[in-house]
Amino acid sequence: MQFKSTLTLAALMGATALSASIPSSCSIGTSATATAQADLDKYAGCETLVGNLTITGDLGSAALANVQEIQGSLSINNATLLNSFSADSVQTITGALNLEKLTVLDSASFGSLKEVDTINLLTLPAISTFASNLQSANNIIISDTSLESVDGFSSLKTVSAFNINNNRYLTSIKSTLQTVSDSLQVSFNGDNTAVSFDNLIWANNITLRSVSNASFASLENVNASFGFFNNSIESLKMVNLTKVGQTFTVNSNNDLTTLQCTNLTSVGGGFVIANNTALKSINGFPKLNTVGGAVVVVGNFSDLELPSLKSVRGGADFESKSGNFSCSPFEKLHSNNAIQGDKFVCKNGATSTSIKLSSTSTSSGSSKTSSGSTSATATSSDSSSSSTSSSSKSKGAAVAQFAPASGFMGAVAAIAVALL
Ligand SMILES: *[C@@H]1O[C@H](CO)[C@@H](O)[C@H](O)[C@H]1NC(C)=O
Ligand SMILES: *[C@@H]1O[C@H](CO)[C@@H](O)[C@H](O)[C@H]1NC(C)=O
Ligand SMILES: *[C@@H]1O[C@H](CO)[C@@H](O)[C@H](O)[C@H]1NC(C)=O
Ligand SMILES: *[C@@H]1O[C@H](CO)[C@@H](O)[C@H](O)[C@H]1NC(C)=O
Ligand SMILES: *[C@@H]1O[C@H](CO)[C@@H](O)[C@H](O)[C@H]1NC(C)=O
Ligand SMILES: *[C@@H]1O[C@H](CO)[C@@H](O)[C@H](O)[C@H]1NC(C)=O
Ligand SMILES: *[C@@H]1O[C@H](CO)[C@@H](O)[C@H](O)[C@H]1NC(C)=O
Ligand SMILES: *[C@@H]1O[C@H](CO)[C@@H](O)[C@H](O)[C@H]1NC(C)=O
Ligand SMILES: *[C@@H]1O[C@H](CO)[C@@H](O)[C@H](O)[C@H]1NC(C)=O
Ligand SMILES: *[C@@H]1O[C@H](CO)[C@@H](O)[C@H](O)[C@H]1NC(C)=O
Ligand SMILES: *[C@@H]1O[C@H](CO)[C@@H](O)[C@H](O)[C@H]1NC(C)=O
Repeated sequence: MQFKSTLTLAALMGATALSASIPSSCSIGTSATATAQADLDKYAGCETLVGNLTITGDLGSAALANVQEIQGSLSINNATLLNSFSADSVQTITGALNLEKLTVLDSASFGSLKEVDTINLLTLPAISTFASNLQSANNIIISDTSLESVDGFSSLKTVSAFNINNNRYLTSIKSTLQTVSDSLQVSFNGDNTAVSFDNLIWANNITLRSVSNASFASLENVNASFGFFNNSIESLKMVNLTKVGQTFTVNSNNDLTTLQCTNLTSVGGGFVIANNTALKSINGFPKLNTVGGAVVVVGNFSDLELPSLKSVRGGADFESKSGNFSCSPFEKLHSNNAIQGDKFVCKNGATSTSIKLSSTSTSSGSSKTSSGSTSATATSSDSSSSSTSSSSKSKGAAVAQFAPASGFMGAVAAIAVALL
């Protein structure tokens, strides 16, 4: 019954009439648009579809039967009445699978789908399940959907990009990914999203925002930047992490009380721990040895320990409102030239030290920097620039108005750059 040969468009068009012949490969030209189930039925005799297929229009439900491979993309968009779709024979899509702006789509089933280049699930406000058996994909982008969990990708070991954003009902992402060669981002989903990437060994960069729990049990290396912003994570432990290639940032995570990266040895860019209001003790970096950029540690911490720190290429800014935090270990680092950048600031509730070895007042970064430290300058008796290597100290000066009301964290970000 089955022909091995590649049939042409002409053969395909005759396929419905000549239903006895089942072409194994059907070309649909560069692209074809289906607006009714009858249009899709025309492909029921094709094992392989060559071309880009778009499904749109007023279909209520739709299915693509029998097709096993699409050499091109499958896009379903703007079908505002479509409530279910299935293509359970499709194993491979060489291009993208795009599901976009399907306002009532509840379920999408790709039960056999193993390989795809890119999956875009965009603006699917009614979707509750997306089923697949994916083994290989380059890019996965899921944005503005009503999915509660992302688990249709549990066989994937490696991707280039994984970006899950603005899915407000999302509560769980459990991933078996081992490597992410470009970027891993989970951001602005419901703020009750627990994220677990326990098999991940390395990723090029990682950004998490608005996540409630995060687990990276096997993570060893982030080649570029690694950032946690505005999460409700209480405890963050990444014990196998040894290296971050560029900047490592933990900023504005107001529930964070425990932060442990016990094997982190080097950070290639800035090391920024800032505005995590509940983080009192920053002692989870016993091996941190080298920072290629600036060190910025700002908050209400009473304890900061960086016992292995030997080399900071950039400057440093340590600021705490707590009188318990002592600047002296960091002043020692600075006077030993372990902190190599021009700028060194250390402040606590009782002490303020600010040294600028050389003027960098022409750059915009440094003007932001100086606005960030203006209030401390105003409230401590002697924190102006010093051209000597000894610290200028003002013991006992109450730095009550420590945090300027606005623009503070922007200034911190600028400091991280300006201190380089
Ligand atoms: C499908 O569309 C892409 C661009 O979106 C194009 O590069 C490709 O050639 C198309 N496929 C076919 C078979 O025409
Ligand atoms: C979707 O439909 C709207 C209005 O009917 C139209 O403006 C838009 O271009 C369509 N988008 C796509 C991707 O076809
Ligand atoms: C992550 O890496 C990719 C590829 O290098 C880059 O395009 C993207 O901007 C990076 N994202 C962040 C947040 O650094
Ligand atoms: C949160 O993550 C930690 C690992 O960091 C894990 O032990 C814990 O079970 C997770 N909690 C929830 C509620 O997912
Ligand atoms: C962490 O690293 C150690 C030593 O390489 C390894 O034995 C352990 O399995 C790793 N832990 C996880 C959860 O991958
Ligand atoms: C990232 O680092 C890992 C482990 O060191 C390495 O195997 C991988 O090739 C690097 N990836 C990129 C994109 O540089
Ligand atoms: C945290 O979220 C608030 C409100 O959405 C936003 O204004 C602020 O810039 C965010 N902070 C960071 C560090 O992303
Ligand atoms: C990480 O540090 C712990 C002790 O905190 C140690 O038991 C473990 O073997 C280390 N893992 C690696 C990969 O070095
Ligand atoms: C310090 O704690 C107070 C409340 O105790 C809070 O209002 C303030 O934002 C915190 N500052 C920082 C930088 O975390
Ligand atoms: C400051 O240190 C004192 C004495 O060691 C201790 O009793 C107090 O709890 C500490 N305060 C904070 C905020 O850690
Ligand atoms: C820093 O933390 C304070 C206190 O929670 C918050 O009001 C402010 O928005 C944060 N700033 C940024 C830029 O995240």
